[in-house]
Amino acid sequence: MYAIKSSALVASILASPVLSLGISLPPLIPSIPGVTEPLASNAPPLPILQLPTPPLASPPFTSSDIKPKKIGYFWTGSGDKLHADFLATYSLDDDTFGTLLWVTDVPTSGNDPHHLGPSLDGKTLIGGGLLSLLKTQDTAYYFDTSDPYRPAFLKSNRAILSSITDEIRAKPDGGFFITYMGSAVGTSPGRLVETDADFNIIHEWPEDVEGTLNILGEQFSPHGLSVDWDHNIILTSDFVVPITILKPTLGIQRANTLRLWDLPTRKILSTITIPEGGGIQDVKFIPGHPESAAIATAVHLGQVWIIYPFRKDADGNQGVAKVLYDLGPKARDTVAIYSDISQDGRFAYFTLTTANHIAALDISDLDNVKRLDDPDEEQPTIGPHYVKLTPDQKHLVVTDYFVQTGEIGVINTPSDYKALYIDVLDDGSLSFNRSIDFTREFSNRGGGKPHSSVVFDLTDPEKPYYY
Ligand SMILES: *[C@@H]1O[C@H](CO)[C@@H](O)[C@H](O)[C@H]1NC(C)=O
Repeated sequence: MYAIKSSALVASILASPVLSLGISLPPLIPSIPGVTEPLASNAPPLPILQLPTPPLASPPFTSSDIKPKKIGYFWTGSGDKLHADFLATYSLDDDTFGTLLWVTDVPTSGNDPHHLGPSLDGKTLIGGGLLSLLKTQDTAYYFDTSDPYRPAFLKSNRAILSSITDEIRAKPDGGFFITYMGSAVGTSPGRLVETDADFNIIHEWPEDVEGTLNILGEQFSPHGLSVDWDHNIILTSDFVVPITILKPTLGIQRANTLRLWDLPTRKILSTITIPEGGGIQDVKFIPGHPESAAIATAVHLGQVWIIYPFRKDADGNQGVAKVLYDLGPKARDTVAIYSDISQDGRFAYFTLTTANHIAALDISDLDNVKRLDDPDEEQPTIGPHYVKLTPDQKHLVVTDYFVQTGEIGVINTPSDYKALYIDVLDDGSLSFNRSIDFTREFSNRGGGKPHSSVVFDLTDPEKPYYY
């Protein structure tokens, strides 16, 4: 027997003309004739669907009114998965390093904030939610950064055919390309999503028959994404089938492939294979390379490969992959290897997540790659993943958190939840120095799990950098 304690509350509910006791939501995946029917019979059960409870608001925080020239944005999950996921904005200036400027909540929790990216004009950031599917939450979250010191939540959305957002690239027209690693139910194929300048999803590529047959024919789990705007090509790299990291699983399905795309038509030109690659997590064009070469990370092998997109293989297929550098025994099967390359194309950095290690290579001469880190050094990092060189090329921002599915999945990489601000020395090598400790900063919500970062450098007001 329930006793209703507050008769005032009951009275107010009865008196309210707008409050209804029923709600109606559209289905998560709307029906598209000829497209969504196969999902009905091919989709595995979602074993892990969670109650879509609304988030608790962030606890109060102390903001700062300082206006640093260098700003770090960190896309972060609340440790307790009950409080809102949030964007944390920090000073990266030398004299005020690590000062919290602002916390911007999004209307989700437990979404596992993933990659973050800026629009070309720096007025918008987009962050993806890796596990949004599980709570039937949106997958992409937009922030208005017109005032860079006070980001505001703008809107969120989701795609129809695909989910599990990963890499983000700004388009010159103001919109974005985004890799969605899985289908709407987390299986293969995912899609290459495109938005317009208002951040509405306008395409989920490929859309032509040949491309659709390509992605249905061989695992398409696009994670890495790099665009060569000058030579009109895109590379995406296939990592894992997202649903297979969740229980019950027969084992994680890792891919060995990349897709080469024609930028103007958004059509797949070819599939490029790295034999036994075991999850090609990342791919990035080397800035200024005369042949538009790109480097790709093969996680099972612990190797860096080089992709020549305009060379042809023995069968006449466009795109050739060659091993560039073996990062050694510690780098094999480290769950994730993500990368960044200096703007001059000379140095490349790789996070070996479960090896707790960040590797640095001098790639100025691709026939004579030099390793700049000591593979046996014990580094002050646990679970490094996302890595970004600051626009001035003087620091490497690394976030020490990859993915923890908890008991519902099989990926739980240990982390110390720090944002590392590592000094880059003249020869490209690294010197560990400062960090922001998200466990301590956000202890009032079970800590913070910072997956990724964006850095603004407003030192020259005529030439601001958003990266
Ligand atoms: C750490 O960074 C600060 C600020 O740039 C610098 O003054 C200091 O020398 C660095 N410390 C080490 C140990 O590199």
